[in-house]
Amino acid sequence: MADAPNHPTPADAADTATGGSSGSRADLGPGGTSLPGQPGDATRAGTGFDTALGKLLVERGVIQQSALEECLRELRVRAADNKPSSLQDLLAERKLASSDQIDKARADTEAAEATRASTKIPGYQMLRKLGQGAMAKVYLARQKSLDRLVAIKVLPPKLTTDNFVARFQKEGRAAASLSHNNIVAAYEIGEANGYHYFVMEYVDGDTVYDRIVARKRLPEREALEIIRQIASALEHAHERGFVHRDIKPRNIMMTRSGVAKLADLGLARSISDRELAESEAGRAYGTPFYISPEQIQGKVDIGPPADIYGLGATFYHMVTGRVPYEAKTQSEVMQKHLRAPLVPPDHLNPQISAGTALVIETMLAKDVRDRYRNARDLIKDIDLVLAGQDPEFAKPALDIGAIATAVQASAQEPVEIVRRNSDGPLSNPLVLSLIAFLTMSVVGNIVLVLLLLAK
Ligand SMILES: Nc1ncnc2c1ncn2[C@@H]1O[C@H](COP(=O)(O)OP(=O)(O)OP(=O)(O)O)[C@@H](O)[C@H]1O
Ligand SMILES: [Mg+2]
Repeated sequence: MADAPNHPTPADAADTATGGSSGSRADLGPGGTSLPGQPGDATRAGTGFDTALGKLLVERGVIQQSALEECLRELRVRAADNKPSSLQDLLAERKLASSDQIDKARADTEAAEATRASTKIPGYQMLRKLGQGAMAKVYLARQKSLDRLVAIKVLPPKLTTDNFVARFQKEGRAAASLSHNNIVAAYEIGEANGYHYFVMEYVDGDTVYDRIVARKRLPEREALEIIRQIASALEHAHERGFVHRDIKPRNIMMTRSGVAKLADLGLARSISDRELAESEAGRAYGTPFYISPEQIQGKVDIGPPADIYGLGATFYHMVTGRVPYEAKTQSEVMQKHLRAPLVPPDHLNPQISAGTALVIETMLAKDVRDRYRNARDLIKDIDLVLAGQDPEFAKPALDIGAIATAVQASAQEPVEIVRRNSDGPLSNPLVLSLIAFLTMSVVGNIVLVLLLLAK
């Protein structure tokens, strides 16, 4: 997402962010809010979607061609200023169209998009758009041969570089070999008319992201049960050599009967995590709120603990209503993952048990060696906490690395040091003057006594 110069308050969350299932998208910013400059449909800013939507509104006589052009120009300016907006938001802001007119045109534009995509992927009838992420659009479709509903992720042609496609296919194929109730099943990958697509199980429900937006915090037990299911998905994937690398609330889907399903497993990335996070920052996409320190550092041997960290950050967000580290910019958030001490989750939500807090802190240890070694240990601890017992593997955080870096960081913050030094009574000027006065009078008296003795 974009840098966030003015943070909205956490209370804005439910009002400003929109859920993925509506077909729009807003990243959760600090405290579960939609970041400024990223209203509901910001990812479409100045995109083909805006152009198509605008064209339809002109055709319908809702707005003038000149007004549309002026709006598209303004959207480009805002995007360049890293404050992306969408046509529909701008039209509403300038009162150029009513919300009814915009909603109708938007639905029609989406339907037209689905129909167009449909002709691109033979064998599937596109029904509607389910959502849009940083890389692709996801459609609900009917697989004609088996007459079943599926979800299809379609990559835009601009991402279809050879390298990207090779990894997309390789990992997509391998992901299809995974079979677990808590992993969104992969059905097919393919290419048609220049579009690469990924067909998967359709999850009729919402995402953990939607739940956080709607309720701010999830009850501890609900969160524990969801995290346990995803940990079990990770155990299955990790044992087969897969690391997800992008665990976050948006990638955890929930069926209507409460089954949690991990999405996007095995979906390839052609560039490093840090590059991805940074390029997403520039494009107002993505979330560095859940990324592990080792991914930020660009380490090459990213293993299962990176997923445990991402799941820990997600868990933290679920029970506290806030992401572990908040800051104005993407890069500050990443710095905090590396250096800042974590505010213990039970400080933000005193209602959660000490066991849950300890499990989360262990998942979020900055040093891989202090984290859960594997998902199996994590599952055991979650089961213990669910049974009201103390976790076995979680370690009370004596995160030496974090403490050392926190001390280092504070040494670079003169204001902090002044404040800390000023905590004792010696900082009081009155006390200091008193001491000075006493010292002077003692010294004076001694000198006087010595003079008298000398006489
Ligand atoms: N298998 C699925 N069944 C139903 N809906 C899905 C499925 N996969 C994705 N979606 C919907 O499509 C949206 C977009 O998914 P996508 O994976 O492209 O992006 P994302 O995970 O939201 O974000 P990012 O691109 O940053 O990872 C999701 O938020 C979700 O609402
Ligand atoms: Mg996803």
